[in-house]
Amino acid sequence: MPESETTQEPDFQPELRCVLICQHQSCLRNGSAAVLAAFEAQQVPGFAIRGSGCQGQCNMGPTVRVTPEEIWYCRVKPSDVPAIVEQHLKGGKPLEALFNPRIHMRFNYY
Ligand code: FES
Repeated sequence: MPESETTQEPDFQPELRCVLICQHQSCLRNGSAAVLAAFEAQQVPGFAIRGSGCQGQCNMGPTVRVTPEEIWYCRVKPSDVPAIVEQHLKGGKPLEALFNPRIHMRFNYY
């Protein structure tokens, strides 16, 4: 694969936690560029904020994935970003209301 097609940037540090905001077709059509800009506007120590290629959840976009803990958010709006940053990235409490239900299945037997 030519270097220009790789998704890793020269300053990529695998030890960093990452917020990956899909910037591929479906997510872009649903506003993921604005979601990426909203994350980039926040101060998030310890996290790399990155636009990514398709993450395979195209009809649930904009897709936001936090690694290495593999928390997947779906249909994220720019207005959701401050809560994700404060509660999850800084506070350690992921926002279950925005979880992608395909990834984070709930098993309710009641
Ligand atoms: S286009 Fe964003 S997950 Fe596929």
